[in-house]
Amino acid sequence: MAVIPGDGTGPEVIREGIKVLEAAGRRFNIKFNWTFFDWGGERYLKTGETIPEGGIEELKKHDAIYLGAIGHPEVKPGILEKEILLRIRFELDQYINLRPVKLYPGVWTPIKDKGPEDIDFVVIRENTEGLYAGGGGFLRKGTPYEVAIQESINTRYGVERCIRFAFEYCRKRNKKKKVTLVGKTNVLTYAFDLWYRVFQEVGQEYPDIEKDYAHVDATCMWFVKNPEWFDVIVTDNMFGDIITDLGAMIQGGMGIAAGGNINPNGVSMFEPIGGSAPKYTGKNVINPLAAICAGMMMLEHLGEEEAAKAIENAVIKVCRDHLKSMAAGQMGYSTTEVGDLVAKYTEEGVEL
Ligand code: IPM
Ligand code: MN
Repeated sequence: MAVIPGDGTGPEVIREGIKVLEAAGRRFNIKFNWTFFDWGGERYLKTGETIPEGGIEELKKHDAIYLGAIGHPEVKPGILEKEILLRIRFELDQYINLRPVKLYPGVWTPIKDKGPEDIDFVVIRENTEGLYAGGGGFLRKGTPYEVAIQESINTRYGVERCIRFAFEYCRKRNKKKKVTLVGKTNVLTYAFDLWYRVFQEVGQEYPDIEKDYAHVDATCMWFVKNPEWFDVIVTDNMFGDIITDLGAMIQGGMGIAAGGNINPNGVSMFEPIGGSAPKYTGKNVINPLAAICAGMMMLEHLGEEEAAKAIENAVIKVCRDHLKSMAAGQMGYSTTEVGDLVAKYTEEGVEL
């Protein structure tokens, strides 16, 4: 396993994640070999280097990548994000960003009158194209006539493989059997015309799955008003970025939201979806559950489904019986104590 603890609280939460994975390993007979990479803001400030030469090739030698957080308050926004996080997503062709939105019992949600039976869906975000592809440029920069262009790139190939993944995932998940395409067909009449056509076309191959469409603005409304309508959502890179922060809030916050950057035929990367949280760094107060859940997704992805389930049960127990809050500094436990509890319940096994 390649490990990139990264910036801020990244190393603290990854340490707890590894603790839990090792505990699962002891119980289920999985031996991990960890290779650590010191990429991130500190290294960049010292050496000017983000990913060293040959770094991407090194990553490719691993079964999966476990990432803490990228982002440093002393580095101009965009450098580390683009040169580390987005570069890995693109160069390893991790074309799916899989973000489950699942409220565990006992976890507080700001949505009044909604519970775990209502908040349980998955967002499948396209992860290599759209506004993130980097198309665009300046014209007459710095003058009063400046033009800034940011292009959304949507390829038939990229859209199709993402939508197909969503239908396959929905079938395997076997819950409501509904895929919702989230877009903006009423304004983005080129990009989402393509998305909508491909969705209808590919959808015909899945007669067992209900096909639904929602505009992205309305989706924000329904996340709050009727989250139980959703099962699997598929959307583009930018919309997926935005709605999964809202999704994270309704499942209990950044302290618990995890995601996977998936290349079904290559090397995938798992990360907590919150940032580096510089103000909490080194205080042993950050919630490690998002990183722990990212580790769980990594095991599941690698086919260790039983071990992944054991971690999920342990997380459910810790949320239900221990933590006072998911927020940093308000858990009633320290970062390391939360890691210890989840590791213990993972290794012992729990009845829920
Ligand atoms: C995320 C993050 C990243 C993104 C940033 C850090 C580049 O917000 O993983 O959602 O926009 O994809
Ligand atoms: Mn984001």
